[in-house]
Amino acid sequence: MMQSILGIPIPFLVLGIEIIILLVLILGWIYGARRMDFKLHHKAVWFVVFLHILTVGLWMIPIAIARLTLALSNPLLYWYQIVHDTVGLLAIGLGAILVVMFLVKGGMPLKLLKKTRPFMFLTIGTWIIAFFLGFYWFLLGWFP
Ligand code: HEM
Repeated sequence: MMQSILGIPIPFLVLGIEIIILLVLILGWIYGARRMDFKLHHKAVWFVVFLHILTVGLWMIPIAIARLTLALSNPLLYWYQIVHDTVGLLAIGLGAILVVMFLVKGGMPLKLLKKTRPFMFLTIGTWIIAFFLGFYWFLLGWFP
């Protein structure tokens, strides 16, 4: 039986939360980083960290682990899963490193902001790719 919360199948909820996360990231970038309102940008990032713990930590990673042996013994069949997981892990890894760097060096030093800027673009770029891979996969699963 498909797991659901309040009658909504979990993949639909997860997709909805992922869309919110992506919008918050993009808004945090446009209204926060580009207009130098770093407080807003910071709030957006923390909100995303919290939501992503729910969707990826509690839903995607347990499913990926359950499928891992199957996927690795049959990589040609599960290549899509493997690519999505790898790009997703890269995006999350990059994001986590950035968050920790700004936590360790408090007060948002301008030097660190300049240095980490390309990595922020890389993070949002890989994030968007992981999102569309997951979204396309969702469509294939529900509307084949
Ligand atoms: C930036 C990172 C990521 C984004 C934006 C993202 C996005 C998505 C989206 C939109 C879906 C479709 C919703 C659904 O079917 O539940 C999905 C599904 C999935 N993702 Fe991710 N994902 C990310 C990272 C990861 C990582 C790191 C893993 C595992 C290591 C992972 C494993 C999965 C799995 C197993 C599913 C399918 C769940 C199912 O069969 O219902 N994702 N992802």
